[in-house]
Formats: sequence, C-alpha cells, structure tokens
Amino acid sequence: MQIRVDSDWKMKDVDGAIVGIGQNFDLNGFPEKLTEILSQLKEKELFQGKIDESYSVTWMHDSEWVDLIFIGLGDDGSFTRNKLRAEIGDAYRTLKKKKIKTLGLDMSALKAIYDEPSVVSRLLAETLVMSDYAFDDYKSDRKKHEIKTVLLKGLSYDQDALDEGEILGKSNVFSRSLTNMPANALTPTKLAQMAMEYGQSSGFEVEIKDLDEIKALNMEAFLSVAKGSTEPPKLIVMRYNGNEKSGNRLGLVGKGLTYDSGGLSIKPTAGMVNMKDDMGGASAVIGAMGAIAQMGIKTNVTAVVAACENMISGHSYKPGDIISSMGGKSIFIGNTDAEGRLTLVDAVTYIQDHENVNMVLDIATLTGAAIHCLGVDASAVLSNDDTFYSNVENAFKKADENQWRMPIFDEYKALIKHEQADLTNSAGSPGTITAGMFIEAFVKDIPWVHIDIAGTAFRDKQEGIFSKGGTGAGVRPLYFLAKKLSK
Ligand code: BES
Ligand code: ZN
Ligand code: ZN
Repeated sequence: MQIRVDSDWKMKDVDGAIVGIGQNFDLNGFPEKLTEILSQLKEKELFQGKIDESYSVTWMHDSEWVDLIFIGLGDDGSFTRNKLRAEIGDAYRTLKKKKIKTLGLDMSALKAIYDEPSVVSRLLAETLVMSDYAFDDYKSDRKKHEIKTVLLKGLSYDQDALDEGEILGKSNVFSRSLTNMPANALTPTKLAQMAMEYGQSSGFEVEIKDLDEIKALNMEAFLSVAKGSTEPPKLIVMRYNGNEKSGNRLGLVGKGLTYDSGGLSIKPTAGMVNMKDDMGGASAVIGAMGAIAQMGIKTNVTAVVAACENMISGHSYKPGDIISSMGGKSIFIGNTDAEGRLTLVDAVTYIQDHENVNMVLDIATLTGAAIHCLGVDASAVLSNDDTFYSNVENAFKKADENQWRMPIFDEYKALIKHEQADLTNSAGSPGTITAGMFIEAFVKDIPWVHIDIAGTAFRDKQEGIFSKGGTGAGVRPLYFLAKKLSK
C-alpha cells in the first residue's frame, strides 16, 4: 500500500472513498452532487454526521462507480483519536472486501478537531497500515486483494509524520504476526530466527544464546520452566546503538513463552487455546526495536527475551520444587503455571549484569488477574520510580494506548515471601501486583517499570484497527518511550 498526499483527488481518480463529516456539515469545497446527497441523508435522518454514524453510498460517474463511506465525526469535541482509528478501520475493511484498488480519504472535517498536521498524519498512516492487516496465512482460500494506493486530502499533512506512522503501523503488525503464529510454527528457535532477520532488515544487532550458554549464565529459573519441553530455549539479545551521548541505555525485557500449557499445574483447554500468544511481550519489544532502529532514534536500547515453552514431561519442574535463579534468590514453586515471572527475573538479572542498562522495563502477558482488573482496553503497570513511570505514562498517551498504575503497598510485601525459600512464585491475590513485585525483587536499585499486557495483547474479535488475535500492544508506547529518552 502506498499512502500519498494528493490534495485535489476527484471521484474519477478513485474507486473507493472514506469521507469524514462533522455534525455542522461544513461541506465547503465538496462537489455539488455530494452536497446534495448529504443534504438528503440529513433530511431523512439517515446520516447526520454524529459520532458512531456511518453511511455507504455508491457514486456513479459515466459507467464507473465509487464505493463511498461517510463517517460521522460529531462536533461536540467528544470524538477521540481512537474513535477515529476505529471508524476508519471499519470503513477501510468494508472497502477492501469490495476489492477497491485506489482509496481516497477526505478528512477536511477533522480540521475542527485536530489542527496539528503531524498528529493527524501519523495517526492516519498508522491506522491505514493496521487496518490492512489480517491473519490469514493459513487459509487456502485467503483473499489476496490489495488496496494499492491511498490518496489523502482535506488537511495539511506532514510527510515525516506520515512516514513515522507507516513505520509504526508496520512494526505493530509485524508484532501481531509473531503473536498470531501458532506455537507449532513459532518455537523459541523460530522466534529467535525471526528476530534475527528483522534485526538485519531494521538495523539492530541480534545475538542468540543457546542452551549451553544459558546454563553457563546460571539462568536456573528460566531453565526450570524450559526443561519440560523438547524445544530448546533461546535467550534473544537485541542491541541498538542510537549514539546517546549521556551514556543512558534503556533495557527492555519481553515475556517469550511461545506456548504456556501451564505445565503440571495444567490449564483447561479453554485457557490453553490462546497460549501461543504468551509471547506478546516478546513481540512487543521486538516490534519496538524495529521501529526504534528504522526511525534512527538517538537512545541506546537493549532488549532481551528468554524464549521457551512451558510443557509437561518427565523433565518438567513440579509444584513443590524449590529452584534457584540467576539473581541468586531461591524460589518455591507453588504453581507451574506462574512460569512467566521465572523467565522474566532471569532476563531482568541478565540485562542488568551483562548489558549495562540503567533503567529496565519488562512487558508480559503475565496474569489472568490483569484482565479481571482492567479488561482488554488497558494494561496494568507497576513501577519503583515516579519519573520513569511518568515517561512511560506519556509514551502510552502518545500512542493512545491505555495503562493504569497499580499500587505497591507495604502490606503486600510479605505476600511474595515463603517460609522455606526466599520467594514464592504464586503469592495469590492481588495477582497482578504480586506478580510484578516478584520481578521487582530482582531489580537492583535502578528505575523499573512492569507492564502486564495479559488483557491487551490479543483480542477475540476483529474490530476497528484490530484484527482477531495479536494487537501489537506496547510496540508504539515503547517506541515513544525510547524517543522521549533521547531528548
Ligand atoms: N500466561 C498466563 C497469564 C495469562 C492468562 C495471559 C490469560 C493471558 C490470558 C500466566 O502464565 C498464568 O498462567 N498466570 C497465572 C498465575 C497464577 C497461577 C499465580 C494466572 O494468571 O492464573
Ligand atoms: Zn502460565
Ligand atoms: Zn504464561
């Protein structure tokens, strides 16, 4: 898909169009015939430009036609950027089904709402790329139709922001496609290989450490989870040098369970069927690294993924085991399904001890409790540092992704302790907070943020810019965080 600014495209130039209409019906500059149609629709109360309204018409000229969708933008200022993404996403998909080749987008009515060219340009480019994505690689009758060109008019656009939006959209859908790959295809080995190829094409370095090297690093907690599977674990280390002069290096850690059966604390089938998605944290950091490198962001960033499967065999770790960890703390295994935090703490120890980072952020599909707390529209966040948290909060805002900070009350601190070991991996309620605090126990006096994306990393249905399955949650916020740190 090629996105191009063409401030005077006409109906004859396109075979599909999305036109935003505000409630005040400012149709200045619209073709006469279009104004006429809209006036009639308004009169008949079929379309009045209100939020949540849309109307499709077929526009005839000579013997050709254009599939046209009006989307209502309202005018009371309650129209949000995510609403705009969703409306365009739905309209885009409808038109793609109609096999249009050239799409015209007229968003002149947006002037009243967003007058900042760079914001709206990035938003539109991101939205178009994200809405174009579908996970249909495994369907033999998949629709191969491509919308080749999108023409933009009606606003002043900013080419740099359009380019940035396109890169962000593409890295978001790359992340989704990793999340969506089934676990029989996306093993830890395959994930490492795909990160390597993506690093080569994007401009960041990837080092893959195999079983022997992981053993030599004493990553006992990570290895305990991995050992039930016949698939070997991989430690994926991604480095990007943005030549930051201050010497700062941001550390990112993503949970990379390419499959989570629960292990001996086995999940019921309904809870297992989506567990190929348990590497949503990994796909978020990999996607973010791609965007950071492609945009040439000035911050130094290292990302680490401890990739493995949580499976059942005679080699599996067991409830009741007491294991060690790279950080040296002993851990009582109360539940083998609380495996993510075990892989994460070794990755967090590794990145602090070997990669010279001075702040660390981990992102993970960590707890079902996060879904109970915040649903699928917000990620749960914990932090030990208000300044670092505030940068993360702003980065989420910039990406229009929601997050909510959870408290770390003193009373909770006893919950992750165990009478026979230093820590327990299954501290219980509040599950999202105790899981995060377990990771915090391995952070060595540097700013830390933890993001639980169990609710936000995948969706059950296609809607707006979201396809069914992986969402790429976290990719754009992490990119904006790195960008902010370069200033
Ligand atoms: N991968 C799951 C968390 C999860 C659940 C992500 C649902 C997305 C959707 C994680 O490994 C897990 O099973 N956590 C347990 C922890 C418990 C045993 C302490 C949970 O949340 O139930
Ligand atoms: Zn689990
Ligand atoms: Zn898991």
